[in-house]
Amino acid sequence: MLIASLKPRTMGGTTNTGLLAYALARAGHRVTCYDADESLQLAAWARDVDDFPGAVHEADTPAFAEAVYPDMDHSRVNVVDAGHAENHPDIVDSVLEVADLAIVTVSPTRPDYDRLTRPERGTPLAKVIRRSASLRESGRPPVTVVLLNRCQAGSKSPSKFADLLTGGGEDGTLPRWDVLTTRIPRREAIASAVGFPCDKPERRAPYDTLVTELTRMGHLPEPGGSR
Ligand SMILES: Nc1ncnc2c1ncn2[C@@H]1O[C@H](COP(=O)(O)OP(=O)(O)O)[C@@H](O)[C@H]1O
Ligand SMILES: [Mg+2]
Repeated sequence: MLIASLKPRTMGGTTNTGLLAYALARAGHRVTCYDADESLQLAAWARDVDDFPGAVHEADTPAFAEAVYPDMDHSRVNVVDAGHAENHPDIVDSVLEVADLAIVTVSPTRPDYDRLTRPERGTPLAKVIRRSASLRESGRPPVTVVLLNRCQAGSKSPSKFADLLTGGGEDGTLPRWDVLTTRIPRREAIASAVGFPCDKPERRAPYDTLVTELTRMGHLPEPGGSR
């Protein structure tokens, strides 16, 4: 299978992609990552540490669907870190053409919510995902979930923005998103995770919860198995 990690702009996407890969491996999945962001931070992370769970292939190409996807081992859980959708819509389009599951990282703040739902420029991500249906074998967009990241402990913002996202905004007219109940906390140990080993409990626990939730929702294959 292929999981696409998406975000409209910088939101903690690469952090989530890498720490999700570690958590998938802890849960017994065979994981391979693809770095479709031209900054290649995920590829550098895997290069710089000894404990990264599997290979990271450079794949920052708008021909992702044609040139990268066919050669994947589809019995593994493949995870692709897409760059900022605002800046690289062509790559995101190609990733969405073939992804089985899209995880959209969003921070529960007004600017980031606005950037997801009503960007000043460019196509809202919900529309990009919806229109991918026309290029997909199934004729339907990939299953998409929102992962709230950088959630301040004790703050009302995560619940407030989760409600706005699931309810279609203040007036109910915006696209509705499925928001995961797992929330990634705002933590220094997570802020400094990219490029370093996954050696701190704070880098593990929220992502183990994420894998448990995705498994419960039926979005992941049996560990170690094929699908
Ligand atoms: N859970 C978190 N808590 C605190 N800071 C975070 C968290 N996740 C990411 N960050 C910070 O957010 C910034 C963007 O993270 P990054 O993963 O590079 O985002 P993206 O790939 O979306 O551009 C970085 O400065 C990172 O340290
Ligand atoms: Mg990134």
